[in-house]
Order: sequence, then structure tokens, then C-alpha cells
Amino acid sequence: MTELMSKTRNILVTSALPYANGSIHLGHMVETIQTDIWVRFQKMRGHTCYYVCADDAHGTAIMLSAEKNGISPEEQIARIKAEHEADFQGFHIGFDNYHSTHSPENQHYSNLIYTRVHENGHIAEREITQAFDPEKQLFLAERYVKGTCPKCKSPDQYGDNCEVCGATYSPMEMINPISVYTGATPVAKESTHFFFTLPDFTDFLKSWTRAGHLQDEVANKLAEWLDGGLKEWDISRDAPYFGFEIPGQPGKYFYVWLDAPIGYMASFKNLCDREGLDFDAYWQADSEHELYHFIGKDIVNFHALFWPAMLSDAGFRTPTKVCVHGFLTVDGKKMSKSRGTFINARTYLQHLNPEYLRYYYAAKLTASVDDIDLNLEDFVQRVNSDLVGKVVNIASRTAKFIQKAGGKLSANIADETLWQKFVAGHNVIASYFEEREYSKAMREVMALADAANEYIADKAPWTLAKDPDNANEVVEVCSLGINCFRLLMTWLKPVLPATSKAAEAFLNCELSWQDEAQWLGEHSINKFKALMTRVESDKVNAMVEASKEEAPKPEAEKSDGWLSKEPLATEIEYADFAKVDLRIARIANAEHVEGADKLLRLTLDLGSETRNVFAGIKSAYQPEDLIGKHTVMVANLKARKMKFGMSEGMVLAAGPGGKDLFILEPHAGAEPGMRVM
Ligand code: MSP
Ligand code: ZN
Repeated sequence: MTELMSKTRNILVTSALPYANGSIHLGHMVETIQTDIWVRFQKMRGHTCYYVCADDAHGTAIMLSAEKNGISPEEQIARIKAEHEADFQGFHIGFDNYHSTHSPENQHYSNLIYTRVHENGHIAEREITQAFDPEKQLFLAERYVKGTCPKCKSPDQYGDNCEVCGATYSPMEMINPISVYTGATPVAKESTHFFFTLPDFTDFLKSWTRAGHLQDEVANKLAEWLDGGLKEWDISRDAPYFGFEIPGQPGKYFYVWLDAPIGYMASFKNLCDREGLDFDAYWQADSEHELYHFIGKDIVNFHALFWPAMLSDAGFRTPTKVCVHGFLTVDGKKMSKSRGTFINARTYLQHLNPEYLRYYYAAKLTASVDDIDLNLEDFVQRVNSDLVGKVVNIASRTAKFIQKAGGKLSANIADETLWQKFVAGHNVIASYFEEREYSKAMREVMALADAANEYIADKAPWTLAKDPDNANEVVEVCSLGINCFRLLMTWLKPVLPATSKAAEAFLNCELSWQDEAQWLGEHSINKFKALMTRVESDKVNAMVEASKEEAPKPEAEKSDGWLSKEPLATEIEYADFAKVDLRIARIANAEHVEGADKLLRLTLDLGSETRNVFAGIKSAYQPEDLIGKHTVMVANLKARKMKFGMSEGMVLAAGPGGKDLFILEPHAGAEPGMRVM
């Protein structure tokens, strides 16, 4: 463990670059808080450590959102960057540099890497056919085309696969495809694309992914792909595109994911130029400096396959470690705008102290890729009981007795057993931080805080102090309390930078993380001031309410696919409409369908017969709430085979989607089987 300190390390650390077309939310904060704690820990240990990040500014989405806002993409990304930086600062994220992928440094390294890879024969060129929006004169990625599934005929599916029957297809194979941007019918159009020949790196990647750069669970996941055979990676996009034009290829741009990770280098280069640091020492092929990327589990292939392959091909070093974390859930569920649990960083900061969240995440984070849950009730309790009730309490209960006796800590250690427990904890906690096992570190810190509190409660200096003969003992007991508090705050400093700063002012010394824990005796401390207030549930509730208000209702949930801005279909005759046989049905049974995200299985009683119908209303209804209700169904719809079985009809529902989706509920007098007109 002491090797940790034996030599000064040179470490470059990154967090993934947030997209420049949206706000920072508490999911992003899992990553930046995890990274920031690690960086602050390394710096405290005396290592040279730089933490860089940037906004990921390129791509079609950013170009179009700028257009929608009536500003240039440059203006759009500048606005968002300022907002992101303020949010991160609000959470005490201590970047050494925050840059942008739309920067000269990034263009330089993107061109350089591309050119080297190209010279090595690892760029292939071929024609591909894609859906093209003739109105917007824009190639459409699969997710930007919607239409009817060619196999099961379900409407409103994305251009890559059908969520109802599971079929995969290309956008142009769909029935009535439309461009999500304009509603226009896309046409098939050919163009030349450039590909990074990833399969050439299969052997390299098979060994790289097993060489200690990744968590085992991540390496295992990647092995599935490596064994299944890698595909060439399409790295170009056609104009119009907001990005860097490919050298020597007018009208062709680097795909946003090509230059995004290069943005790590670019941000660091920008820092090097400003501070006179040695860029090459960190990036040259045989560098002994360390490089750590902290990322979420959704972007592993970009960081653990494409990135090391390109770096090594272009003559640069590869990462020491790619540290992958899981996703944030709130109260056990995916963050949701309608529940108010899709919480933006800014909204949080308007209601609560950032260090509450930093501590809560630390108490939950491990080195695994498991998702982490922000349980709002537990959050309040945990922060109050651990930080306020345990740690700060030690100082607030003992400081005044030192003050009364002149403000000086005793050189004498009143209870060697207790102190030795703290001394022993010192390096154990350090190695937990190093291994990103923050939850274990926090558990150890709180166990020691408990031990110190027990000691103080047992000695009861407030009772001892009643007898002047005990004056010396009171100071010794409280000096031990303060020394315990000092170590606890040292270990918490990477997590709680602001509170530890206030603690430093009180303790009248800097909290640094030495090799061995040192006793602080014969030392004057300052007057104690409250270091942290309790979390109030009211504030948490207000934050959730505010997050609900912010949610742009129908737009936000349009991905649920109920209402789309499709142009009106061709006019029909009344006779055509009359062909639709709408009947009252009683929902005899409703149940979840194993493996289906959106569907419920309904058993519909039509009076004379029952039907099995799959309805995409799971986001809005609990099955048990539906049973016994009357609704309206299309009774003469030809039965369709779906992924989960035959569907014999359809129920009618409308609404913006998500929770706001409503089936028709006719008057109680309606009898199953009645025709509705
Ligand atoms: N721009 C890319 C990253 C490029 S890195 C060269 C991107 N941006 S992102 O804004 O979508 O996500 C940034 C980081 O935040 C990613 O590591 C992502 O996994 C993480 N998270 C985004 N939402 C998250 C949660 N809900 N929970 C935890 N982490 C999440 O991907
Ligand atoms: Zn289908």
C-alpha cells in the first residue's frame, strides 16, 4: 500500500465529453463526480494529475438544434459550453481544462490521426445507399426515419428495427417511411463513405482488452463482439454536417465519434500550450505516464475498441485504463421527466448543496459497471446521519472545550487503541480510493466516525468539565476527538472539497494525505462554526416539482411514438371509414408480457367471443387497473402475428405518450359487443 506514495506519478484523467445540445443532468454528474473524486485524491497524494474534458460539439443533431434556435452552430455550442461549465463548477468539478471538440487543436490531431491511419492503409472507401431527405437535402440516420414495419405492419417504427415484431431492416424497406425532421418521404441515395478497417485490429484488440486496461465484466462483453467478428467503422458523413472536413475530401466530414475522443488530446494540448507542459510525454507511444478515461457503459465500444486501435495505428500510446460506470436510476427507475426525476444539474443546485450529492454518490459508487440508484428518501437520511450526525458532530461536541481551555490541542494521545484504529484506516481508505471503491471507503470512514463518537459519548467531556480537577482530561479527550475529526475530513476531502476547506480554517491547518497519519498536538485551532446543515426533505420535493415543470410535455415523450407530426393521409370516403367495425369490449384480463417494453396482453370480451390483443399502453396503465373496464376496439382488424403471439384486433388510445396515454372508456351502460359509431 505504501507503494502508492513511493514515487510521484504523472496522470492524465478524462471524463466523457458531454454533447453540446443538451443540459447536464444528474446522470452526467455520476461520472464527473466519480472522476473528480479520483483526481482530487491523486492530487492530495502528491501526484501530478491533470483532469481535462470538453464539450462534444459536432454532429447533425447540434447543427439542427442551432437551426431551430435561429443561431449559428458556433453560437449554439458557445452558449451550451458556458452553461455546462457553470453547472460543473457548481458541483466543484475541478477540471484543469474544459475545451471544445470544435477547436483548432482538435482539428489538428483529427487530421493527423486520420492521415496516419490512411497512410497505413486502414481507410477503406466505398459507396453506400442511405435514406435522404429531399426537402432538407440531408442524409438520414436510421433513427431519423419512421414508418410502418415491412414485416408485421406496425405503424410508427424507427428505421432500423421494429419494436413490435423485432424485425431488422433498412429505412428504405419500410412502408411509408418519413423523415422525422420534415415529414418528407425519403429517397434512396448513394454516396461515398470512408471506413476505418477495424477487423485488421482484431488480434491487437483481443490482447489489448485482456491486458488489464478494463474491468473484467467489460472485457467479457467485448469478447462477444471480438469473437463474433468486427465490422469496418463508417467514419465519414456527407455535407451538410457540423464538423471537420476530411483532408482532401471536399464535402466529406469526420463522423462526430471520430473526433470526439481526439478531443481528450485536444483539450490537454490546449492546457499544455497555456501552462508549458510536455504534451508528448503523455501521448507518445512508449509513454510511461498514465492515462485514464472515465466513461459510462453505453460508450464502451468507442473507447475500448475504436480508440485504442486508432491510437496505436497512428503511433500514439493507448489508455492505461478505461474505467466504466453504470447508469443512474432515481428511486429505482430510469430518470423520467413526467415523474420529475429527470433532474438537471442546474435545478439541483437551485435547491440543494452539491456536496450532499457528491457524498451520496461516493457512498454508492464501486469499481463495477452496476447502475447506481439515487433513492431520494435514503439520500436525505444518509447525508443527515453520516455527514451531519456522525462526522461534523465530533467537532461540534468537542471544539468548545478546547476553546475554553485556550484553543490548543494536547500533545498527549488519550486513548491509544482508538487512535491506532484511525492510523490503520488511513492506508486502507487510500487503497479503496485508488481502486475506485468509494462506497467501501465511505463505509470505513463512517465506521471510524462511529468509533470516535462512541468514545466521546463514553467519556462525556460535558460531564467531566463540571469538575475543575478534570480540566486536563477534558482537553485530552477533546484533542483526540479533534484529531479523529481531522483524519475523517482528510479522507473526505476528495468528496467534500468545500466542507473540508471550512474544516481547514477551523483546524488552522491544511488537510493533506501523508503516507502515515500524524497526530496534531500543541497546535492552536480556531473557533468552530457549523460546517454543514441538514438536508431538508422539503427542498428535495421542491426540486422534483421544479423538474416536472421543466419537462416539455409532448415533445419530450414523442419517442414513445404515439403522436407524430406526420402529414395528413389521403382523404377517404365515409364508406371506407364505415368498414372499421368499432365495438365495446370488456377487459376481462390484462397482464405484462415477458420481454416486452411497451406491450400489455389484453383479453377482450366481446360478448359473443373473447380476443387476445397486444396493446402498446404499458407506459400508462398497470394491468390490474384495467381489468373490468370497458373500452373500444377495432373488431374486424385482420389478426396479425406479433413477436409475442397473435393479436386479434386493436384498442384505441390517444395522448402525447408515456404516462399520458388514454384508452377510450365508454359509459358504464355500454355492453360488450355493442357497435360504436
Ligand atoms: N458525447 C458522447 C461522449 C464522447 S466521449 C469522447 C456522449 N455524451 S453524453 O452527454 O451522452 O454522455 C456523457 C457521459 O455521461 C457518458 O459517459 C455517459 O455514459 C454518461 N451518462 C449520460 N447519462 C447517464 C446516466 N443517466 N447515468 C450515468 N451516466 C450517464 O456520450
Ligand atoms: Zn414489425
